Amino acid sequence: MCGIVAYVGERTAYPILIKGLQRLEYRGYDSAGIALANGGIRVYKCKGRVKDLQALARDKEVGGSIGMGHTRWATHGEPSDANAHPHASERGIFHVVHNGIIENHAHLRRELVRRGYTFRSETDTEVLANLIEDTYLEQNVSAELAVRLALTRVVGAYGLVILCDREPGKLLAARKGSPLVIGVGEGEYFLASDAMPIIEYTDRVIYMNDEEVAVITPSALDLKDLYNDVKTPEIKTIKLSIANADKGEFPHFMLKEIHEQPFSVTDTFRGRVAADGDKIVLGGILDVMPRLVEARRVIIVACGTSWHAALVGEYLLEEYARVPVEVEYASEFRYRDPIVGEGDLVIAISQSGETADTLAAIRRVKGTGATCLGICNVAGSSISRETEAGVYTRAGIEIGVASTKAFTSQITVLAMMAFLLGSKRRVLDAAEYRALVSELTRVPEMIATVLEQEGRIKEIAELYKESPNALFLGRGILFPVALEGALKLKEISYIHAEGYPAAEMKHGPIALVDERMPVFAIATSDKLYDKTAGNIQEVKARGGKVIAIATRGNEEIRGLADQVIEIPPCHVALSPLLAVVPLQLFAYHVAVARGCNVDQPRNLAKSVTVE
Ligand code: AGP
Ligand code: GLU
Repeated sequence: MCGIVAYVGERTAYPILIKGLQRLEYRGYDSAGIALANGGIRVYKCKGRVKDLQALARDKEVGGSIGMGHTRWATHGEPSDANAHPHASERGIFHVVHNGIIENHAHLRRELVRRGYTFRSETDTEVLANLIEDTYLEQNVSAELAVRLALTRVVGAYGLVILCDREPGKLLAARKGSPLVIGVGEGEYFLASDAMPIIEYTDRVIYMNDEEVAVITPSALDLKDLYNDVKTPEIKTIKLSIANADKGEFPHFMLKEIHEQPFSVTDTFRGRVAADGDKIVLGGILDVMPRLVEARRVIIVACGTSWHAALVGEYLLEEYARVPVEVEYASEFRYRDPIVGEGDLVIAISQSGETADTLAAIRRVKGTGATCLGICNVAGSSISRETEAGVYTRAGIEIGVASTKAFTSQITVLAMMAFLLGSKRRVLDAAEYRALVSELTRVPEMIATVLEQEGRIKEIAELYKESPNALFLGRGILFPVALEGALKLKEISYIHAEGYPAAEMKHGPIALVDERMPVFAIATSDKLYDKTAGNIQEVKARGGKVIAIATRGNEEIRGLADQVIEIPPCHVALSPLLAVVPLQLFAYHVAVARGCNVDQPRNLAKSVTVE
């Protein structure tokens, strides 16, 4: 999604804004801009990257200790200089940067045109700027009240920062549906879409809530809701490090995050799995544990990679906690009239904790009597705050748009939940529970073993980098891993790829198989291996190329597949944590070989905070 950064204090704002926008680049965008208040408001904005904005502002006046910046991910109006933010109101009284969508923008625009307003862009954001100015002038009120009154007429989502030329020395901010974090410094405040641009200046933050409006000067922060009720800012201390935010010796964030997985999985279970391996403690769900134990059904809502993790969770929860599970695309669930109520456990899985569809899905079930949990990676994110309990994945900041370590941490949390619930529901015997927990603690070293094969996987990527299509096959708990491998490949290398249950091949997809179609077969040594080996032979019989993910020690597979990538022997329940790693590395190296922008693939954003 787009990014917002703002500053008010004693320092020169410009370098803080530029560095902040660079820290948000991973979120994906198509244009960038800044506004600086220094005896008037100066705006520099353009289509392109932050470096293009810097080039535009070079040798220009960039003074001032108050300002705001924006990276745009276009929703209304193509990426262009004119559609880039900040947007000024007709008379230049207000300047606005916005993340989100104003759904009733067309109606408001028509009303403003009737009142004589003209527009310089195609965006919904400019409508907001003019609506605030019109309210300010017509009702002759303060900038803060004009903002609040205007926003009561808006339908949609916004994270907003506003400058008013007639009320210098302050920033205004408002939030509904799109995140805004306030960093609290000494005689200065920072604002951003997430904590990344803030953490090098302060660890004290305030997560704005929906329908809150802030008025911020270097020495004061006033918080209200749209209806003039004063709100008390809740200052939290965050534990993030800039070190996490740098690539270190890796060429891309994605590769760094793939290699971090032995550590991120360890961080996910550390302190939650007893040293003697016979119990799991998930503090974030202790209060609701009785309801989880009694749950008659689990519904998991998510998008993208998180939805794939949810599918793995379905296998784990049904197998070990013996509870029925339904996995739903959040974007579909939110628009249905789902039958949900007492006794249902709804789990939202989201790395960012800000995905609009997943947030809306959770809001869909509020008040139904269902228990809502969140599995998020970003502390203080909207989903983590709007669910009544949950478990943080603790994967650390994930910057690559293609999710990798968050996925394995999500599965780690789901496995711990499944084992814990199985034990509490007395459907998982103590010996098996202990064995599973013990195996989980060995996963990091097993992932490290898989990572040692990166060179071999890179060679395989070279063989298939020009393939126009690819198929990924898996069975059982590894079917979602096939889906995830396909998503990784298509989203960063732009090769069309599909994941399928291996048995489905004969119901259509096998018609696609020829010598140009690489087929990944996840053929680890489990009860379904023989069936998958049969599918490999079916593909080979039609001239297809097969890359098998197999368990170390399986010699037979070498006579079946064209290439074999081995993973250590592992309990089937945890095998997704290992089998996905070669697929992540394959997608990464194919994308690099094709010269793709691995960390910021075209058209994508790290967090989809619009519908
Ligand atoms: C995964 O690689 C993609 N970046 C995308 O599918 C992502 O998983 C999806 O947008 C959900 O994001 P979330 O986990 O932050 O909710
Ligand atoms: N809807 C606004 C636009 O299209 C903001 C999009 C964004 O979140 O970047 O300009």
